Amino acid sequence: MSDVVRIKRISQESKDTSTLAFDWGAHTVPGQFIMVWIPGIDEIPMSLSSTGSEKTVTVRKVGDATSAIHALQEGDRIGVRGPYGNGFDLNGLRTLVVGGGVGMAPLMPVLRTVYADLVIGARSADEILFEEEARRYCSNVEISTDDGSLGFHGNAVQLAEAMMDKGDYEQVIACGPEVMLHYLFQACERRGLPCQLSLERYMKCAVGICGSCMLGRERVCIDGPVFDSERLRMLPEFGRSRRDPAGRIVDL
Ligand SMILES: Cc1cc2nc3c(=O)[nH]c(=O)nc-3n(C[C@H](O)[C@H](O)[C@H](O)COP(=O)(O)OP(=O)(O)OC[C@H]3O[C@@H](n4cnc5c(N)ncnc54)[C@H](O)[C@@H]3O)c2cc1C
Ligand code: FES
Repeated sequence: MSDVVRIKRISQESKDTSTLAFDWGAHTVPGQFIMVWIPGIDEIPMSLSSTGSEKTVTVRKVGDATSAIHALQEGDRIGVRGPYGNGFDLNGLRTLVVGGGVGMAPLMPVLRTVYADLVIGARSADEILFEEEARRYCSNVEISTDDGSLGFHGNAVQLAEAMMDKGDYEQVIACGPEVMLHYLFQACERRGLPCQLSLERYMKCAVGICGSCMLGRERVCIDGPVFDSERLRMLPEFGRSRRDPAGRIVDL
């Protein structure tokens, strides 16, 4: 489904991250993403940070397209197509959710749907996203910052490992920088704990045709972006390399 939608509301989440809300009737599930088209600039993948009839995307400014999105005003229009990808399997297991940076975006619909404990990680306190809203859904929200400005002084994986050792979790669901996800996956493997991780790759078509999002033999746009432990074990590129816009394999 593809549409042009009007931005209803823009909320500043942190100095470089904003959430855009728009009405769009497409049926979506937590963990899916859409392609956002900014006329004259680019079309880029964005996770849905809300999946009701009012949808939101939460955008961190890193380059041309995301800067153009940050320059938009309420009332402006963007193109959206999707939803794409598989989403998380919300299976009723006792869950620890781990979000790093803007990786919190696709996890918010999960937290609104299931009961879970949560680790939010960021470089510093001013980059922690969605803490207030998350505390409405989760009784146990723990924060980690790399610089120690809030919560646990260290990274989200170290904090998650301490929680795994204390809690009786049956699975881990996470999104964030791939290096973080790689170490989190290894921590889960050591404990025999299954996980579902949402990964990112460079995307052009989002429908499985162009191959730009290849990760091993998987196309992240249609086979992912969520991968479970069984599939992650079969992906030697996970946590090590990605493809650049020209399709060359580069180190992460
Ligand atoms: C399935 C999926 C869901 C995503 N969801 C979100 C989301 O909810 N919120 C959000 O802010 N971003 C999300 N992204 C990442 C987002 O698509 C990129 O940040 C965006 O395409 C960058 O476009 P740009 O033109 O602004 O930057 P570019 O000019 O393309 O790149 C600028 C810099 O950012 C780096 N960069 C580009 N893409 C990525 C990336 N995927 N990860 C890390 N660094 C990157 C480049 O290497 C470069 O150094 C998602 C990506 C995927 C594949
Ligand atoms: S983005 Fe084209 S195959 Fe995935």
